[in-house]
This record gives sequence, C-alpha cells and structure tokens, in this order.
Amino acid sequence: MKAILLAGGTGTRLMPLTGLMNKHLLPVYNYPMIHYAVNTLAAAGADEILFITGRRSAGMFIEYFGSGRGHGASITYLIQEEAGGIAQALELAKPYVGKEEKFLMLLGDNLVDDSLEPYVKAYEKEPAGSAMVLLKEVPDPERYGVPVFDEGGKIIRIEEKPAAPACSYSVTGIYLYDGSVFDVVSAIAPSGRGELEITDVNNVYAAAGKLAHAMLQGWWADAGTFDSLLEAARHKKDGEGQK
Ligand code: G1P
Repeated sequence: MKAILLAGGTGTRLMPLTGLMNKHLLPVYNYPMIHYAVNTLAAAGADEILFITGRRSAGMFIEYFGSGRGHGASITYLIQEEAGGIAQALELAKPYVGKEEKFLMLLGDNLVDDSLEPYVKAYEKEPAGSAMVLLKEVPDPERYGVPVFDEGGKIIRIEEKPAAPACSYSVTGIYLYDGSVFDVVSAIAPSGRGELEITDVNNVYAAAGKLAHAMLQGWWADAGTFDSLLEAARHKKDGEGQK
C-alpha cells in the first residue's frame, strides 16, 4: 500500500523554533518528530511513502531517511514549492496514485500509539469513491476539525476550528482515500486564508454520504503547538523512547 506523508507547512504556531527548521524535524524526546510518522506508516503496511515537504528542509529529511531502507518503506520525495494547504500538497501525489487505488495519508505532526493497520483494513471494505477519517475525543476540540453527526451517527459535515464545537471529537490528521480524491481536490476553491483545505475535501465526501469514520483507541497528539510538543515528548519518555 502507498502512503502519503505531509511534512511541509510554515509551523507558525511553533515560531520561533520553526524559524530555524521545519517543525517535523524538531525533537520529540529522543527522535525527530517525523521519525514516528514514518514508523507508523511502515507498521500500517505502507511499503511506499510519498513524502511531501517544502524545499527549505527537504535535504535534511533525505539525509535522515535516505531511500527509506532501514525504515521499512521506500520513500519518494515530492516538493511543495509554496505552502498552499494540505489539499494542495496532496494534489502533488496525483501522478503516483491509480484511479481506484486506496491509500493512507498522515500529517507528519500527528503522533499516535495505535497501529493504523486495522483502520486500513476497515477502509478496504468501503466502496470505491469513499473516504475515511479517524476521530479522537479531546478536551480542546476547537483546535481541530470537528465532526457533526446525523441521528444515525454518520458524519454530515466537519467544521474547521469552530468557536462552539458540536462535540468533543477531533478529526485527526489520519485520512484514507482512493484516487477519487484528486477529482475532489481539483473541484474545491481556496479558503479565506488562500489555502486548499483538507476539511473542504472531506466535506465533499460527507455531503455525498461517502465519509466513513472510526475512533482511534490509544493516545494521539497533534504536536504542532508548544504544549502539545512537550506533552508528546513526555508521553514518549514515559514509554521509554518507544518508536
Ligand atoms: C489540520 C486539519 C484539522 C485537523 C488537524 C489534525 O489542522 O485542518 O482539521 O483536525 O490538522 O492534526 P492544522 O493542524 O493544520 O491546523
């Protein structure tokens, strides 16, 4: 299975740390943040990773992972020239993914204890042209995409960083798509901040009744803020530097 790993962005919420380098290279206890993401993908069964990042730090990722040998997957590097949103980065992978080919996508600052393999298996059973998101109960849903459910428990839409969240679940940066996602990305318009938003992509699937979801069972963090970065490091330390 292919996987897409997004490790670009400006890391504004971690300035001035990110004034020096891409946030995904910052330490989370004893490894650079991105190390955990590559391990998570390889453990989920990804044998080919499309690694998308900006040009500024690309050389450092290549220095660290090389071809991927020794990290459990072959890695192809794609460069996002300007930060234009998660969905714009995803679009760079289009030439590498078949029309009905299913793949896993992970935001590189999302750290997770669960194996993603069962979720990949669950998504394999979903019909072509559908997508799946993984949710996690959190104390601060307003920081994230937040799902809105219908009475049957299906996601009808996702609200991005709502001031008044509809529930206490966050949409994690773990997504399952097939090649249909590239048609969806090319049909959405940039948001108010000029970016192609992944939540807008997921909302196209939700509106069509084609957005499946599952609940992450174990610990999860989006290490994109000072507090969550520290919390993630503490968690890894408590797990004795668990990879
Ligand atoms: C992105 C998504 C958001 C999601 C989050 C998970 O937000 O837009 O829906 O909940 O990742 O990490 P960002 O962290 O880029 O602001």
